[in-house]
Amino acid sequence: MFAIERHPVSDSVRAQALVNNEQYQQLYQRSINDPDGFWREQAASLDWFAPWHTLTESNFQEGQAAWFIGGKLNVTHNCIDRHLATRADQVAIIWEGDDPHESAHITYRQLHDKVCRLANALKARGVEKGHRVCIYMPMVPEAAYAMLACARIGAIHSVVFGGFSPDALRDRILDADCTCVITADEGLRGAKRIPLKNNVDQALKDCPNVHTTLVVQRTEGDIAWHAERDIWYHDAVRAMPSNCPAEPMDSEDPLFILYTSGSTGTPKGVLHTTGGYLLGASLTFKYVFDYKDGEIYWCTADVGWITGHSYIVYGPLANGATTLMFEGVPNYPDTSRFWQVIDKHQVNIFYTAPTAIRALMRDGEAPVKKTSRASLRLLGSVGEPINPEAWEWYYHVVGDTRCPIVDTWWQTETGAIMISPLPGATDLKPGSATRPFFGVQPVLLDEQGQEIDGAGSGVLAIKASWPSQIRSVYGDHQRLIDTYFSAYPGYYFTGDGARRDEDGYYWITGRVDDVLNVSGHRIGTAEVESALVLHDAVAEAAVVGYPHDVKGQGIYAYVTPMAGIEPSAALEDELRQLVSKEIGSFAKPDLLQWAPALPKTRSGKIMRRILRKIACNELDNLGDTSTLADEGVVNSLIDARHNR
Ligand code: WT7
Repeated sequence: MFAIERHPVSDSVRAQALVNNEQYQQLYQRSINDPDGFWREQAASLDWFAPWHTLTESNFQEGQAAWFIGGKLNVTHNCIDRHLATRADQVAIIWEGDDPHESAHITYRQLHDKVCRLANALKARGVEKGHRVCIYMPMVPEAAYAMLACARIGAIHSVVFGGFSPDALRDRILDADCTCVITADEGLRGAKRIPLKNNVDQALKDCPNVHTTLVVQRTEGDIAWHAERDIWYHDAVRAMPSNCPAEPMDSEDPLFILYTSGSTGTPKGVLHTTGGYLLGASLTFKYVFDYKDGEIYWCTADVGWITGHSYIVYGPLANGATTLMFEGVPNYPDTSRFWQVIDKHQVNIFYTAPTAIRALMRDGEAPVKKTSRASLRLLGSVGEPINPEAWEWYYHVVGDTRCPIVDTWWQTETGAIMISPLPGATDLKPGSATRPFFGVQPVLLDEQGQEIDGAGSGVLAIKASWPSQIRSVYGDHQRLIDTYFSAYPGYYFTGDGARRDEDGYYWITGRVDDVLNVSGHRIGTAEVESALVLHDAVAEAAVVGYPHDVKGQGIYAYVTPMAGIEPSAALEDELRQLVSKEIGSFAKPDLLQWAPALPKTRSGKIMRRILRKIACNELDNLGDTSTLADEGVVNSLIDARHNR
């Protein structure tokens, strides 16, 4: 066992931080005991076209939440226009290309111009307030312009990660009934080309309602062209006026939909609205990253995930920050890239995922140590539990024992960081996300749904609404209620397990449902299973996670072939390709075991608990096997298991 050492806040960090521990405690207590007063003050950090009259109306039974009711605002006015008086020439976005020789600096004035032109181009193509626009883009500044242009005119964006397959893209376009897609000819990652436009073409064969695709020219690669539908982005914006009024939006008007995986069914369109989301993203950015004017901030996420939405685009820009956007990957041209980019752009705050840290750790210290990193002041972690070994490496090797690490727990559904240290306030314990952010009331529940007091373990739930809470599952509000508000009535159920220690610190232990977290990608086991059983040779499939050194979790698939089918390496390969086609290559099983039969109860239910144990190579304690219909099945699976 790795000894966990407490890292107290240093005097120098505390001295220059926004809040110290006492101030955190006071502000936190106030946010819970006097939410009206607390949020009135905080909401004044945004520009409102019309003031709100009621702080919040929420009802967890009905999955209902509304914040800053009656208020009118526009996200892009807050992220761009209001900064122009004081920081028009300040850099808003630093773009670092896949190729280390390519980068760009976009000022707030330029950002205003780009966003307005694109907003006008969208309008010219008939996109209106409330319409859905799909964004399927590489990590280029146009991805941020696209999100902001939608927000400018009140269109609802649905960003789909560029790693998703044409089929997965099609399903998301159809579910949200998008009428416009913004994409690029190709993406560029580590010298690999991603055929985005071709994927869109394939997806749109089944999407008759899409009338427009705007195509950013990134690589000038060969693509097909559909003149009635496709327009080059640069052509579309060229003739447009560089001013476009910001649409006044209601606090509760939708801002975006973002699809995420659950334990059952197809991915859910998580719906976020305008006022509460923006304030959540903005406030957490300010306090968690302790952001100071003029600092350079870099979040390595992709805009296709919520981290990119809240902490590359909306949170930083709402604060008038300089946000770095990176097109490439951590190991191209070599594994020193992250640290070189930090030196090149003098990055002060760096936010990444444990899986990236673990992958880079394998290469040793040399690629890190040949860079300076003297500009770094603060490090962040997000997406999965960070193991203490990786934490210490990040702290000592990357941060030179100087930079606090904020381990931020949150979800697509929470919109913004929920549990995290504040650098000037919170003593750190490697592996713990520590304490709740202002206004967040986490609880641990036992199996009966009772709150656990003091130190203990249970499922992590949230007791009361918070501003950036998920508002609905797009097109299926009942699913919101069923997924988050039914298992433990009166609470928001996170799907995570957690432990609380004697200091009140939270330690997230991972998902308690059938959701996997593979290299920070959230994948439902049911989605992978559905893909596998599409193959004619497959009778049945069960997918579970197992611990993986770099990815956090790996995907372990048990597959039962149809009678008369002989398992083979070629067939295994076909199945991996099928998952890649249905979802994306990031969802391919790491290990695939042919299973003549799956362990089932007498009533025919697959005993996933046992499959999980076998995949994890935890054979001492298989738990209760007395309900198994046929114990022999388990022994044969154990004999042929992959992960020993
Ligand atoms: C799930 C949410 C939130 C942005 C990225 C992921 C896991 C996230 C942490 C953390 C332990 C974490 C949880 C959560 N998770 N951050 N700091 N420590 N676990 O968003 O794709 O919606 O996934 O990621 O299991 O439920 P997401």
